[in-house]
Amino acid sequence: MLTETHLYQEIHEQPTVLATLLAREQQTAEQLAVAIRERNIDHVIIAARGTSDNAARYAKYLWGSRNRLTVGLATPSLFSIYKQPPRFGNALVLGISQSGKSPDIVSVLAEARKQGALTAAITNFPQSDLARQTEYVINLQAGLEQSVAATKTYTSELAAIALLSACMCQDTVMFDELQRVPSLVTEALVLGGDMQQAAERYCFMNACVTIGRGYNYATAFELALKLKELTYTMVEPYSSADFQHGPLALVEPRFPVITIAPSGALLPEMHHFMHHLQTLGAELIVVSDDNDALALARTPLPLPAGMPEWLSPLIAIIPGQLFAMHLAAVRDYDVDRPRSLRKVTETH
Ligand code: F6R
Repeated sequence: MLTETHLYQEIHEQPTVLATLLAREQQTAEQLAVAIRERNIDHVIIAARGTSDNAARYAKYLWGSRNRLTVGLATPSLFSIYKQPPRFGNALVLGISQSGKSPDIVSVLAEARKQGALTAAITNFPQSDLARQTEYVINLQAGLEQSVAATKTYTSELAAIALLSACMCQDTVMFDELQRVPSLVTEALVLGGDMQQAAERYCFMNACVTIGRGYNYATAFELALKLKELTYTMVEPYSSADFQHGPLALVEPRFPVITIAPSGALLPEMHHFMHHLQTLGAELIVVSDDNDALALARTPLPLPAGMPEWLSPLIAIIPGQLFAMHLAAVRDYDVDRPRSLRKVTETH
């Protein structure tokens, strides 16, 4: 039974995990925010892989817009293989990793410490190799994640990033909005409750693209990764801008395109883009809280109303997780143990 799988249960644990993280980790996030202020940090380098790297994409947009920090992704092989690490300057160097174990990610933080940079980790294992290299550790508070596909640790990583942003801004509206996230996630889980029918339609799909931009660029990547690892489908993530610079030629009648189009600054652009995709005959699967956007879809995947745009990635991934899980199930794949993968991947 699907409801008895770790994946199903972990997807449905997300509201509780998020509420726990918000309740327990604010103090650490405040302390890190103070260190960022006192040390005049003006840029952030993040080391992360897979799902955690997708969470880092959210930090690029959120900390860039709300906290005016330039955020870049680290190049781990320069540290672990070439042994020619670049200078960090006055950066916060942050490792994001559910397990805290991958040696290449740990090597970035070890070098950052050697160079005297401010270091922090966001991890589900506060005793991990990664955490041991850092001055500040935000604990994901997700409990053990047993399904190979990361779900609750992903949204918890996003929440940690959002919490740190609110602490850096010292903005009470942001804190209030954050507190509403667990119930919005619950609503999204209810709205996605009968996803099986939607999944059945795509049982024989062998390729598609996911499109999101701005804050939800992260969602496009994370949804593509979940679909790849759970359903073994060729899925490429793009921003709607990048997609038009060449990959658009992939679209032929009935080619499936999954768009993430929540309300916010990007919605008009996504609307325009989806209209264009329709004229090309694409099969649109639309994740949105906007009725006009959903009306363009062959398969609408509704989101709850009232999400602030900056927090929408925490909620917009939920229908995607459910869709990937159900698609794997209708294909009769093991949703907890995708082929060839292990829970902890150690790369050097
Ligand atoms: C995807 C997944 C992997 C991990 C990646 C990083 O669902 O689980 O892509 O995200 O192996 O793992 P951590 O976060 O433990 O460093």
